[in-house]
Amino acid sequence: MGKNLSIATISLLLVLASTKAQQVFDVKSYGAQPNADITQALTKAWKAACAVAGSKVVISAGAPSDVASFNGKDGWVAFERIDGLTVSGGGVFDGEGQQAWQKNECAKDKNCNLLPINIRFDYVTNSKVQDITSKDSKYFHINLLECKKLQLQHVTIIAPADSPNTDGIHMGRSSQITITNATIGTGDDCISFGDGTQDVTVNQVTCGPGHGISIGSLGRYENEEPVSGIRVTGATLSNTDNGVRIKTWPASSSGVASDIHFEDVVMNNVANPVIIDQNYCPNSQCSNQSPSKVKISNVSFKKIRGTSSTKEALNLICSKSVPCQQVVLSDIDLAYKGGGGSTTSTCTNVQPAISGKLNPPACTNKHY
Ligand SMILES: *[C@@H]1O[C@H](CO)[C@@H](O)[C@H](O)[C@H]1NC(C)=O
Ligand SMILES: *[C@@H]1O[C@H](CO)[C@@H](O)[C@H](O)[C@H]1NC(C)=O
Repeated sequence: MGKNLSIATISLLLVLASTKAQQVFDVKSYGAQPNADITQALTKAWKAACAVAGSKVVISAGAPSDVASFNGKDGWVAFERIDGLTVSGGGVFDGEGQQAWQKNECAKDKNCNLLPINIRFDYVTNSKVQDITSKDSKYFHINLLECKKLQLQHVTIIAPADSPNTDGIHMGRSSQITITNATIGTGDDCISFGDGTQDVTVNQVTCGPGHGISIGSLGRYENEEPVSGIRVTGATLSNTDNGVRIKTWPASSSGVASDIHFEDVVMNNVANPVIIDQNYCPNSQCSNQSPSKVKISNVSFKKIRGTSSTKEALNLICSKSVPCQQVVLSDIDLAYKGGGGSTTSTCTNVQPAISGKLNPPACTNKHY
C-alpha cells in the first residue's frame, strides 16, 4: 500500500479498510496537509469511501501537540459506529504528548480536564486492528467503548514510564475482544478492563514499563456493569509496578468481577506481581471509611513465575463486606529479586484454594 507516499516525511501512515478492500481514497486527494488538522479531508474521503462497497482510506498526518487545539475533545482519532473495519498498515499514531503531560492535573484533581486519547473505538464491531503503533499519547493510548468482536493484533505502544495516565489499551462495556501479540511500554496500566467488559482473551502480551495488567478500577461510579470472562495467557511483564491485578475502590458502589483467569505469566523485577487490591485509592481521592462493595469471585492465578522486586510478592486484599470467593493459586514461583530471603504473601478476607508448587506459600500473613 501507499507506494507513492514517502514514509520518511509522514509520521502516520495507515489504512482503514473494509474487509475486502478495493478502491483507494487517499486523504491527500481531499486536501490533507502533513502535520495539520485533517478532520475535514478525512471526513470527505470517508464519505466518498462509504459510497463504494469494499473501499480503503489512506491517511497521512501528524498530531497537533498543543492540547488547546483539541477544544476539549476526548480523542485524537476516533472511530465510531463502524461494522467490519480494518485498521492496519504499520503506521505510527504519534500523540506528541510531552507538552500535555506537564499540564496533567489528574493526580491532584479528580475532576481534571480530560486530555485526548490517541485512538478511540466506540461502538465498533466485527473489526480488526493490526500492525499499528501508538506513541506518546497525551492520555490513554487506545480506548474501546461498547465494542464487540474486535481483534487487536500486533499492536505496539510506546511512552515513557513517567508519562501520566497513558494507559496502553483500556476497554469498557465491550465483549468478544482478543488482543494478541501486543508490546506495551507506558506510564500507566498496560491493559485495563473497565466495567461491562466480558469475554476477552489476551494472548502473548509483553508489558513494561508501566503499571501492569489490571481488572478495574471498579466501584468508583454508580451502576457499573459486571466484568467477567477475562483470560490472560502467556504474558511477560518487566520492571512494572504491578503484574496482574484486580483493583476496586473502598466506600464504593456495588459491582461484580468474576471468571477472571491469569495463566502462564512471567514476571521480571515486578513490584506487586500478583495483587487483588480492594482498597485501591490513588492520590487519596476517596474516603477510606467503608469497605469495597465489588464482589470478586472465580479468579485463578496459574503458572506465574519469575522475580518480584519487593518481598510481598502475592497480595490478596479482599473486602470485609464481600470477601473474595473461589480464588485459585496454582504453580506460583516468585523469587525476591533483591536476594536475601524468600517472598511472602498476604490474604485478607479470602481463603484461596491452592495446588502445585507455591513460592511464596499461600497466606504467610492472614487477616480474616
Ligand atoms: C508477533 O510479533 C512478532 C514481531 O513483533 C512477529 O514476528 C510474529 O510473527 C507475531 N506473531 C503472531 C502470532 O502474530
Ligand atoms: C469459573 O470460571 C470457569 C473458567 O472460565 C468457568 O468455566 C466457570 O463457568 C466459572 N464458574 C462460575 C461459577 O462462574
